[in-house]
Amino acid sequence: MRRAIILRPAAAVLVASALAGCREDMEVQPKLTAYSSAAAFDQNMAARQPPTGTLDREALEREAALGRPPAPSEALIRRGAERYKIACTPCHGEAGLGDGIVVQRGFPQPPAFTEPRLLAADASHVVDVITHGWGVMYPYENRVAPADRWAIALYVRALQLAQTGKDAADPAPAQAVQR
Ligand code: HEC
Repeated sequence: MRRAIILRPAAAVLVASALAGCREDMEVQPKLTAYSSAAAFDQNMAARQPPTGTLDREALEREAALGRPPAPSEALIRRGAERYKIACTPCHGEAGLGDGIVVQRGFPQPPAFTEPRLLAADASHVVDVITHGWGVMYPYENRVAPADRWAIALYVRALQLAQTGKDAADPAPAQAVQR
């Protein structure tokens, strides 16, 4: 017992020094980072284009999610509200009236979601605008996942109904998104 007590600190020192000596993180090796220059490559750029024919393994799944509106639910509206506040309020404003801070600083003003044409449009139009952009609005497909685009579309529908004064108990937002 006594011997074990004496040996324990010695073993700890041994293990600690062994670990310290073995630290060989890959991050300390010589390498080219994305934006560094590299004389060996075209245009002196370390960042390379993927070889022709490279397939994005998740592209098919993303494509499928776009054509598959998720079942409307309160959780989906909440998710849509959260994503809308992050990605869309800077221009469209909290209530979707087209008065976001970026517009107040000079960006072209988007239409209010309560415009008759947008009230009549179905949810897939909003998903399409997020995916491909619209006029001066650039695409958000790299920043908003397909399932979130449907969630945002549902929230936009809820904003429209709130603005046009429909009864809050009206189940229409959930139905409208499936039109
Ligand atoms: C940087 C500002 C900006 C952001 C961020 C932005 N938009 Fe837009 N959006 C615009 C502008 C400007 C227009 C009007 C474009 C035009 O008509 O040329 C527009 C138009 C639209 C339209 C109307 C399309 C039509 O049929 O007239 C919808 C719907 C829309 N945006 C949804 C969204 C959603 C949803 C998001 C968040 C994912 C978003 N936008 C983020 C600026 C923005």
